[in-house]
Amino acid sequence: MKILITGAGGQLGHELVDAANQAENEVVGLTRAQLDVTNRGAVQQAVTAARPQVIIHAAAWTAVDACEGDAAKAMLVNATATQHVVDAARHVGARVVYIGTDYVFDGTKPNPYLETDTPNPQSVYGVSKLAGEQALDLALDSVVRISWVCGYHGANMVKTILRLAAEHDTLTFVDDQIGNPTMADDAARMIVHLATEQSGGIWHVTNQGVVSWYEFAREVLRAAGLDPARVRPIPTRDLMPPRPAPRPANSVLENQALRDAGIALLDNFHVPLSRLVNRLRLG
Ligand SMILES: NC(=O)c1ccc[n+]([C@@H]2O[C@H](COP(=O)([O-])OP(=O)(O)OC[C@H]3O[C@@H](n4cnc5c(N)ncnc54)[C@H](OP(=O)(O)O)[C@@H]3O)[C@@H](O)[C@H]2O)c1
Repeated sequence: MKILITGAGGQLGHELVDAANQAENEVVGLTRAQLDVTNRGAVQQAVTAARPQVIIHAAAWTAVDACEGDAAKAMLVNATATQHVVDAARHVGARVVYIGTDYVFDGTKPNPYLETDTPNPQSVYGVSKLAGEQALDLALDSVVRISWVCGYHGANMVKTILRLAAEHDTLTFVDDQIGNPTMADDAARMIVHLATEQSGGIWHVTNQGVVSWYEFAREVLRAAGLDPARVRPIPTRDLMPPRPAPRPANSVLENQALRDAGIALLDNFHVPLSRLVNRLRLG
């Protein structure tokens, strides 16, 4: 299939390009420098020139705390630009796979979030990403919601935890936010599979295994051969300074749509985490 990927220079975008190539598709990966998705004319031109069958739309403004201070920019990049991508896709008969987020939920549900649960975002980023979802025609296009993404490229919590461990004896992480850590390469392979084999609907795609950030930091240290006891728990309310954007206390995404479709779920996060930590340590 011919697949166009936006945000190809990002953490997930890199892995999407690799995964789509490995699955022997024809791939057009466009970084922000090559395609600014907020430029409607440029999106039309790029999509018309490439004539893809599927567009995986991974470009987004992902700086969650910065979004809180500039709602107009968040809406432009995450919502209006998604409408540009969908409109251009319709023009060439392509469908869109939009990368969504756990931040569309308020985190108050006592159990994992299903694809059918009603979103209620609490942050500007979450509001803007939900508005992006609403630009899609779910009979044709798909939303793939992912969470707590970490990979080899770009900034993420695995890299932050390893850096902090190199600089400090003890590390503190919140123990009252839980989620499914998801490695970018695993997520990318599943997203490409869904993009080529399925059409339409909302899909939750995560590695399996639920932890708090505190427990995750311990797992990262363990994977790096360091002492996990160096990590101390704190509650979110004691974070200094407090983060501008609220985070869902429960970010756990049940992968119900994958189960219903009979698609094998991704591994427990421990498997790709140790692969990632080894890769980062080898440089
Ligand atoms: N990271 C997570 O934990 C997580 C969780 C749930 C969902 N997601 C979603 O997953 C997708 C990929 O995120 P990621 O983790 O790979 O973040 P990322 O590394 O920040 O990737 C996003 C990419 O989009 C690009 N971009 C920003 N504004 C753009 C514009 N106007 N036109 C074109 N490209 C633009 C960025 O370029 P610059 O770097 O040059 O700005 C970056 O390369 C996003 O849709 C995000 O909302 C991420």
